[in-house]
Amino acid sequence: MTSVKSLIINGLFLMFCCSGAFAAQTSVSGVILPDAKPGQYIHNPPTIESLIKNKKINPELKKVILKGYDIFMNTQQFRGKYVFNQLSCKSCHMGEGGLAWSAPVWPAATTLPDFRGKNGHVNSIEERIAGCFSYSLNGIPPAYDSADMLSLVAYHSWLATGAPMYENNIGGRGFSSLGKTKPVFLNDAVGEKLYQAKCAMCHGDNGQGIEQNERLVFPPLWGNGSYNWGAGMSRVFTAASFIKNNMPLGLPGSLSDEEAWQLAWFINGHERPQDPRFTGSVENTREGFYNFHQHTRYGTVLNGVLLGDHQNSGEKPN
Ligand code: HEC
Ligand code: HEC
Repeated sequence: MTSVKSLIINGLFLMFCCSGAFAAQTSVSGVILPDAKPGQYIHNPPTIESLIKNKKINPELKKVILKGYDIFMNTQQFRGKYVFNQLSCKSCHMGEGGLAWSAPVWPAATTLPDFRGKNGHVNSIEERIAGCFSYSLNGIPPAYDSADMLSLVAYHSWLATGAPMYENNIGGRGFSSLGKTKPVFLNDAVGEKLYQAKCAMCHGDNGQGIEQNERLVFPPLWGNGSYNWGAGMSRVFTAASFIKNNMPLGLPGSLSDEEAWQLAWFINGHERPQDPRFTGSVENTREGFYNFHQHTRYGTVLNGVLLGDHQNSGEKPN
């Protein structure tokens, strides 16, 4: 695999595979990511090493937190049970779920229960986690009272150690540093050219990611192996911000805002598993969830084809 070889040579692959804590914030390019606004709460989540060393935490609780960490980092161990694509939680929540501008997950433990616009009611942390299973992992979430859900909740809560409850003004939360307003011209051909130059070496010429010895090294960006049409990442503005602040791996912040938008537009103009909220008609589903889908390309026409107009839910049983 020549592309992986060349990565080993330029060191990026090494950074990814062997250093656990690659410094995404001040990258090798020296690019600085957006600062928090004055007055925002900044959190430094504890490290797994500190958990292992900690003698004050009850050993049974420690086991449960470590199990949650393991599920978060390698959600693929539940492929065919909770997960029906090739992603893990850490594929989008980088830095083990603690990194700023990579949607750090700990705020779910300090800001929920709260009202959520996506589903219009007050959500628990279990429901928030379940949402990422259903959409981002195209999956079926673990039961709220299961040991697997408990361990994930414990991992989120432990990451939040020391953070104030119901503080909503959090620096580096989410991905969305670019805002929701796209620059005027988004064009698939422009995005494709950038993709081939800056992303294909890891994510594959056709967005399908790269596997080695049947182990996924780089995750797919579209198709059955990736997030579905209802996932937050399928919104162009969300993907644009994720890309700007996290990709290419090892060089976060190196793309211009416009390049990040063009790439997000191009990637999210590709087919992926059906939105689990599908009503049987893509037009209907787009309209019914317009608050969400106004930001996706679902139900819009690309090269004469209506995106999302299919029954394909990937590997997930219908
Ligand atoms: C395909 C990418 C993707 C994957 C994979 C993914 N998520 Fe998410 N997650 C998102 C997006 C997008 C958001 C919303 C971020 C925003 O609001 O800007 C999010 C938000 C969250 C939040 C809320 C964070 C907050 O600020 O309140 C939690 C908790 C969370 N995810 C947990 C998980 C867990 C646990 C998994 C694995 C079971 C997972 N996610 C897998 C994309 C993903
Ligand atoms: C050096 C390899 C590498 C390069 C180059 C790279 N990525 Fe990634 N990308 C990754 C890895 C690895 C992950 C998952 C993070 C993890 O598992 O730690 C990822 C995750 C993602 C995700 C979220 C997960 C998914 O599968 O949807 C998106 C979107 C993404 N990359 C887009 C891009 C874009 C756009 C570019 C080009 C600007 C790019 N990447 C360049 C390695 C790379």
